[in-house]
Amino acid sequence: MRKSVLVSGSNGQLGRALQEASRFFPDLKIDFLDRNQLDLSQIGTKGKKIAWPKELLDTHYDYYIHAAAYTAVDQAEKDVKLCFQVNALAVKHLAEYLSTKNTKFIYISSDYVYHSLQNTPFTEKDLPQPKGVYARSKLAGEEAVKQTIADYLIFRTSWVYGEHGKNFVKTMDRLGKERDEINVVFDQIGSPTWVYDLAKMLLIIIDNGKAKETIGIFNYSNEGICSWYDFALSVMQFRGYSTKIFPVRTTAFPLPAPRPAFSVMDKSHFKETFGLDIPHWRESLHKCLNSLRD
Ligand SMILES: NC(=O)c1ccc[n+]([C@@H]2O[C@H](COP(=O)([O-])OP(=O)(O)OC[C@H]3O[C@@H](n4cnc5c(N)ncnc54)[C@H](OP(=O)(O)O)[C@@H]3O)[C@@H](O)[C@H]2O)c1
Repeated sequence: MRKSVLVSGSNGQLGRALQEASRFFPDLKIDFLDRNQLDLSQIGTKGKKIAWPKELLDTHYDYYIHAAAYTAVDQAEKDVKLCFQVNALAVKHLAEYLSTKNTKFIYISSDYVYHSLQNTPFTEKDLPQPKGVYARSKLAGEEAVKQTIADYLIFRTSWVYGEHGKNFVKTMDRLGKERDEINVVFDQIGSPTWVYDLAKMLLIIIDNGKAKETIGIFNYSNEGICSWYDFALSVMQFRGYSTKIFPVRTTAFPLPAPRPAFSVMDKSHFKETFGLDIPHWRESLHKCLNSLRD
């Protein structure tokens, strides 16, 4: 029997990538929900009965991929209540409901939960120390999942970009055409993740049965590390733009939300558990830029 999957946040970067990747998985039956069908800002708010979308009421899904989230990191510093409502409280209600339906909950979290002075790659055993509202809300979402539903997977990912939505790669691609010079921070180190790699990985582990037999938290990004400066430089080089990039410190771009200076994640646990290779970020960047050109 085909495995069934429900995905929220269908218009986000991950939601769109899952839609694109889904055509290569004929044995999966995948349905998608957008914000109008599942509004997380309303789920479980005081005094209101939860109006679950009919997909959740009428159909049994084997897997639920929670790709929706409040992701406006800087705005979150002001929108504390809404950010926690969407990223944690609604998640708790969803997890509660899906635990009664025997559906596996796949939650997408963030490298921002790792924010300390550590300068070696973080493993899942390192103590999360999120700073800032968005980061704390993502960890609260993880806690809600762990405490509420026994059958779950959590993937912490970082520096996500793709062909759709707003992201660093698309911004650099545009600035490469428009500007002779730009400043980019060099003192934040992490690992980019092409959202299509993340989407494909999720569907592979569902399709091959590994997701069914596994529970827990996993780091997942592309292989390799870089600064935002290096990342920007690679976009310019792949594209052949002559834009000059100046490396600047984070303090040159004061922003409301704190960013970790080092958020490189160790992905050994993922690779050992799921037996999958992960592409290097440069290789994936190249593929994404090529598909942006098409
Ligand atoms: N982007 C990154 O660099 C990054 C890094 C680490 C982890 N992550 C995590 O990865 C996951 C996917 O991120 P992404 O980059 O795909 O995010 P995204 O492009 O910002 O998409 C988020 C999706 O959530 C939906 N959404 C927002 N508020 C909602 C609400 N109140 N009710 C229902 N849906 C709502 C949005 O709907 P609309 O389309 O209608 O706006 C959008 O479809 C998220 O959990 C995020 O926290 C992202």
